[in-house]
Amino acid sequence: MTSTLITNIAELATCDGTGADRLGLRHQAALVAEAGRIAWVGAAADAPAADRRIDVEGRAVLPGFVDSHSHLVFAGDRSAEFAARMTGQPYDGGGIATSVTATRAASDDELRDLLRQRTAEMRRQGTTTVEIKSGYGLTVEDEARALRLAQEFTAETTFLGAHVIPAEYRADRAGYLELVTGPMLRAATPYARWIDVFCDPHSPHAFTGEEARHVLTTGRAAGLGLRVHGNQLGPGPGVQLAVELGAASVDHCTHLAAADIAALADAKDTTVATLLPGVEFCTRSPYPDAKGLLTAGAAIALATDCNPGTCYSSSMPFVIALAVRELGLTPGEAVYAATAGSARSLRRTDIGRLIVGARADLAVLDAPSHTHLAYRPGVPICRTLEIDG
Ligand code: NIG
Ligand code: FE
Repeated sequence: MTSTLITNIAELATCDGTGADRLGLRHQAALVAEAGRIAWVGAAADAPAADRRIDVEGRAVLPGFVDSHSHLVFAGDRSAEFAARMTGQPYDGGGIATSVTATRAASDDELRDLLRQRTAEMRRQGTTTVEIKSGYGLTVEDEARALRLAQEFTAETTFLGAHVIPAEYRADRAGYLELVTGPMLRAATPYARWIDVFCDPHSPHAFTGEEARHVLTTGRAAGLGLRVHGNQLGPGPGVQLAVELGAASVDHCTHLAAADIAALADAKDTTVATLLPGVEFCTRSPYPDAKGLLTAGAAIALATDCNPGTCYSSSMPFVIALAVRELGLTPGEAVYAATAGSARSLRRTDIGRLIVGARADLAVLDAPSHTHLAYRPGVPICRTLEIDG
């Protein structure tokens, strides 16, 4: 078994929960990786011998980002919709139909190539774990196919048949709900770890609180973990429903009432509030109250939501820069939310932290500290640190 010493780390953000912003910072540090796991962490001066040595020459090292919310299985192009939005067209989820048509028409190999390109793009920017949702198939076969292909790239796959009511069911919402919670769920379950629903009374295409409850409870009965798109376009029942059902994550949380913040604070050990500020940036919408959530004691995560409609960005460094500039998080709070926080939203203890026994999933910066992620927005200073080769 080959061991690798990574040394001359100016700043190691272990995200182990200790110290300022729970970043567990160590300076002039080193770590040893063996068989894909972290075997030792400490001062560079005390480093044990290892078979191989990587000198990062005074760079900062942190856990690889955990992008806990993405919609990567899609074909087609919606840049015209984005351009229209920049001239004032509001987002209401209607454009999802365009991606559904293009995705249904794409071959397995085309979708696989797109997944390969998009996950490689993420990896080049420091992301080492990605959650991938279905939701642009919306037939039994197309949803199962999206998840089967996504599973080739990640273990964190999410069934989102309840993304929108597809055009062919517009006059029969009840019929689509029966399909999603029956045959489609059965076809998707072998390929999915999670189930999600776009719960938003402000979109005519999305699902009401009662519809979402039915989707989530049938998904839970089928053995899937729960995630929710909630409170994205306006106030609504998504957050309260997610908390009540013990969902692992409720995502967006853009429009929160005081009672929603209080519920998320009470549920801090169960339900993570996942913030997706790239969406607010790309839809020119108000940002969520991240500081209010943190002050109340809620657990937060950051993710890209990479998708063709509301945020076609795969960049966690961009999300961190937004979280600092627009949500008012410190760079440390943002890095913690993008690593340990998002790992928690996936109920994973083996990623998002650089502690002995965790996966040796590392990101490295062409910079001496994590602050540069926000200080140098748009500059490609961050990449995955490839240990084997
Ligand atoms: O998370 N809101 C629902 N789903 C995506 C957008 C999907 C799309 O517009 O294609 C989101 O923002
Ligand atoms: Fe989403």
